[in-house]
Amino acid sequence: MNDLVVAITGASGSAYAVRLLEVLAAAGRSVHLVVSPAGQQVIGHELGLKIDPAKFSIEQLLPDFDTLEAGNGGRVQFHGYRDFSAGIASGSFHTDGMVICPCSMGTLAAVSQGLSQNLIHRAADVHLKERRKLIVVPRETPLGAIQLSNMKTLADAGAVILPAMPGFYNQPQSIDDLVNFVVARICDQLGVEQDLTKRWGNQSIEL
Ligand SMILES: Cc1cc2nc3c(=O)[nH]c(=O)nc-3n(C[C@H](O)[C@H](O)[C@H](O)COP(=O)(O)O)c2cc1C
Repeated sequence: MNDLVVAITGASGSAYAVRLLEVLAAAGRSVHLVVSPAGQQVIGHELGLKIDPAKFSIEQLLPDFDTLEAGNGGRVQFHGYRDFSAGIASGSFHTDGMVICPCSMGTLAAVSQGLSQNLIHRAADVHLKERRKLIVVPRETPLGAIQLSNMKTLADAGAVILPAMPGFYNQPQSIDDLVNFVVARICDQLGVEQDLTKRWGNQSIEL
């Protein structure tokens, strides 16, 4: 198994990213993590967590990381937002895929146009050019024509557009259930086993 790349940008929904990191850690997957400055701001606002990029430790996002990681061998390597010397900036560094979660409309636009102005844009560009899995989890509503067109451009280039749109058919009881719904779909795309939600057709979801 190769490492995975997770990028957190400044769209609402940082809880999705934190839950995703928890699930990947529990699955023993090693992750390269990049957080945009706007992503840090939203994490602070929505979750009350402070990230210090100069002295990053995963406990700043996942206080119980040690427990999750125990025995599973996964680790999280943090990269500076403009550190183009990081391995994930190059196609020669193999990964099993990248997730931008949540993905702001700004990052969506930049990636759809191949701008590569920071490590998130560059790593996404690399995943597209190397024909590796790129999962984009956009969050905005309503969506304008430019944003829809950028999503179409990315989908045509091979990215999976996986909007942060939880379903309600499995009768969620909590915000956690809604978060898990989206994270489960991301894990399915990555091929990471998870047991976060009931699957339609497998277990009793009553109509
Ligand atoms: C609390 C908060 C919530 C935001 N929510 C969204 C959002 O849901 N979608 C979005 O596209 N931008 C949202 N923004 C604006 C982005 O953070 C902003 O466009 C930023 O430039 C994105 O930069 P990045 O793509 O480098 O992270 C939000 C900003 C703040 C402060």
